[in-house]
Amino acid sequence: MKRILVIEGSPRVGNTSTVTDWVLAGLGRGVKTDRLRASELDIHGCRECLECEKSKKSAGCGQSDDMLELYDKMVDADLTIFTTPVFCWGATAQLKAVLDRSFALFTGEDLLKGNRWALVITAGGDHYDGADLIVAMFKNVCRFIGIKYSGQHVVAECPSGARLRRDKDIEKQARAFGRELRRNLAGK
Ligand SMILES: Cc1cc2nc3c(=O)[nH]c(=O)nc-3n(C[C@H](O)[C@H](O)[C@H](O)COP(=O)(O)O)c2cc1C
Repeated sequence: MKRILVIEGSPRVGNTSTVTDWVLAGLGRGVKTDRLRASELDIHGCRECLECEKSKKSAGCGQSDDMLELYDKMVDADLTIFTTPVFCWGATAQLKAVLDRSFALFTGEDLLKGNRWALVITAGGDHYDGADLIVAMFKNVCRFIGIKYSGQHVVAECPSGARLRRDKDIEKQARAFGRELRRNLAGK
């Protein structure tokens, strides 16, 4: 069974979680999904101690917080879906901390080999109010580590709360992205 890891970046259960629910519904059953909220974990920023560069077979991070468990989950996942609202033209600080700390996996020997990464983003503005920059960041990271980037689902000018939950078009598109990820995984 394929393992899906979802790392949610929003500090609240809001728009991005709603869209993520639909993406996961589109992905369907028969996958093992582990869904975590970065804001509920104790994950500190990277201190650049570069301890990680000394160990090639594991993350070898110099800090000991909830990221240690997340490293194992990231290594084991077939697909990791990062989700975030756009905050000031970037990902949330909570998700950026996860990404920066993931550097400890990039310095190892193919620790993420075979993994795929994808993105779910909601934005108050249009695609060029920061969502584009988050996509560029993740594409570049995937290229740097040599893993497949499986694409992104961006809901720009995203309505909030009940207005979003009632929006059948946004739901349909999010489910379609989930199905696309599923096909993508099957073709692995
Ligand atoms: C602190 C903050 C900064 C934001 N900055 C941006 C931004 O730079 N560009 C944008 O398109 N939307 C921005 N937004 C709007 C959010 O991305 C949008 O409302 C999103 O859907 C919220 O998702 P959530 O409910 O999952 O947190 C910002 C919202 C907040 C609270």
